[in-house]
Amino acid sequence: MTPQKPLLMLASLCMCTAASGQRPEEQNYAQFASFPALGSLKAIERPSGPDWMHNAVIYQIYPQTFFDSNGDGIGDIQGIIAKLDYVKSLGVDAIWVNPFFESPFRDAGYDISDYYSVAPRYGTNEDAKELFAKAHEKGLKVLFDFVASYTSIDHQWFKDSCEPAPNAHSNWYVWTNDTWFDGMDNYMAGFIQGYCLRNGNYLQNFFWSQPALNFGYGNIDPQQSAWQLPPNHPEIMALREEMKNVVRFWMGMGADGYRADMASTLVKRDDEDKKYTRAVWNDIREMLNKEFPGTFTVAEWEDWTAAKGGFNSNFLHWRKPFYDLWFRNNDSYFLPAGKGDITRFLALYLDQREKSGDANYISLTVGNHDLPRVNRWGRDKADLELIQVFAFTMPNIPFIYYGDEIGMRQLDFQSGKEGCYGTRAGGRTPMQWAGGANLGFSSSAPDKLWLPVDDAADAPTVAAQEKDPDSMLSFMRELVAFRKAHPALAADGGFYPVYAQKDQYPFIFIRAGGDEKLLVAINPSATQASAQIKGTLKAKRRLIKGSECKWSEKGDNTIISVPARSYAIYSLE
Ligand code: NOJ
Ligand code: CA
Repeated sequence: MTPQKPLLMLASLCMCTAASGQRPEEQNYAQFASFPALGSLKAIERPSGPDWMHNAVIYQIYPQTFFDSNGDGIGDIQGIIAKLDYVKSLGVDAIWVNPFFESPFRDAGYDISDYYSVAPRYGTNEDAKELFAKAHEKGLKVLFDFVASYTSIDHQWFKDSCEPAPNAHSNWYVWTNDTWFDGMDNYMAGFIQGYCLRNGNYLQNFFWSQPALNFGYGNIDPQQSAWQLPPNHPEIMALREEMKNVVRFWMGMGADGYRADMASTLVKRDDEDKKYTRAVWNDIREMLNKEFPGTFTVAEWEDWTAAKGGFNSNFLHWRKPFYDLWFRNNDSYFLPAGKGDITRFLALYLDQREKSGDANYISLTVGNHDLPRVNRWGRDKADLELIQVFAFTMPNIPFIYYGDEIGMRQLDFQSGKEGCYGTRAGGRTPMQWAGGANLGFSSSAPDKLWLPVDDAADAPTVAAQEKDPDSMLSFMRELVAFRKAHPALAADGGFYPVYAQKDQYPFIFIRAGGDEKLLVAINPSATQASAQIKGTLKAKRRLIKGSECKWSEKGDNTIISVPARSYAIYSLE
């Protein structure tokens, strides 16, 4: 009998897989050192999904710290509306807004107490409707954050579920059948004991205040069959219908899709290849296909099974080989120290694409509200640019975390603000719009701000960077436009690694799509790096972005030397 994995651990799979546990393919390397035959290179067959997603760039907005329209120190929906022209000016297609629903804010709003209402601190449902409409007028799509795996303890369903007398919501959460139940050894981790009058312990899905909604057990422990329910139990099916109603509600208000929180964690215990969890999501997808065709969904779900669960995209950032690319301070690939290894990432990436059958797109996010800001170790603009070039030239749907486009810095707050323990607070500080009070984020007194602003004299701001053609902001705008102008770089462009060697720099690959083929070479290390590649490139090359490399031939090999801390993008003609 396999003991239940503590759910808390599952929930923070995020942090723990990034820091320690390894999966089999992460031990492997993907090494390349030859040119593919150019004639055969092409785009992949497009996975199903709305047209706009194939070459999409998405901007992530953290509502509490984006822009405060009414001076109470907290960002809000009218604040987002006020900044839509700015967002549009970045050249992005869509925004993902973190949860803006009613909540006691023990986990910054992920802990929802009413799925159908905007939290008063952000505005009203009418404001949300206006946001969707105004965004659409400007040609932007809007994704909401869909949290299906748990609610807040303050949700009425949970309050009902806490009641000793059976009611419609008794089984909507995972409860043991006895506070003193006899599976303590295997099952206690992640269960909260003695919370209310109901005789039983509830399962948490993240913090203690986030009880897991009950989507059943994939493999019921025979010893615990008194309380572990099958995924098709009638009350669970009723919960599933209700979650569809939540989606219908926000799609009906005008949303274009969602990002699904902790999407892989719905069904508990031995849900092999996420079979039962996928069934829930595919059910929702079917409803969407009928009632809201063209909906885009992206999941916090760190492997290929997301594609088989009907998601158009999924994030890999909690996987160690991806996390290590820029979130380690000694052997990240994207650091001048040059001690990184691209081949582990590549092994993970290629494995995921193969297993998903390219049925969706991976999203290689550079930053988000759970990650430290990407410049955490004092990276300078050159480092940041190289990271963004990687994110915008690899096949994926790039996301820009608000503020990364101006190089906002990770700040040193360790506060527990609404669940922002550790580095989470320092990466969620207010957007820096301009010099002056609160860097233009809010007109409130500084001590009323949700989190303080960066008080460095040289804190980057949008206003200062707007005027500077060499700024990070200008670079990002150009990069987005560059990607959009080149079909080979779109998410469906073919991807062919040319040079990736264990512990070596540079990283070189070819992208193919439309009528073009582009060769991308990236060298984040502080010294020139040379790649020895078998064969010769049977095409004319033309540098279209970045710095020229040195090309030479030695016998049957081609040597490409990429200058220190630079990249090159060549059109192959
Ligand atoms: C992932 C969210 O992105 C994070 O902010 C949250 O705390 C956990 N899921 C729990 O929902
Ligand atoms: Ca406000």
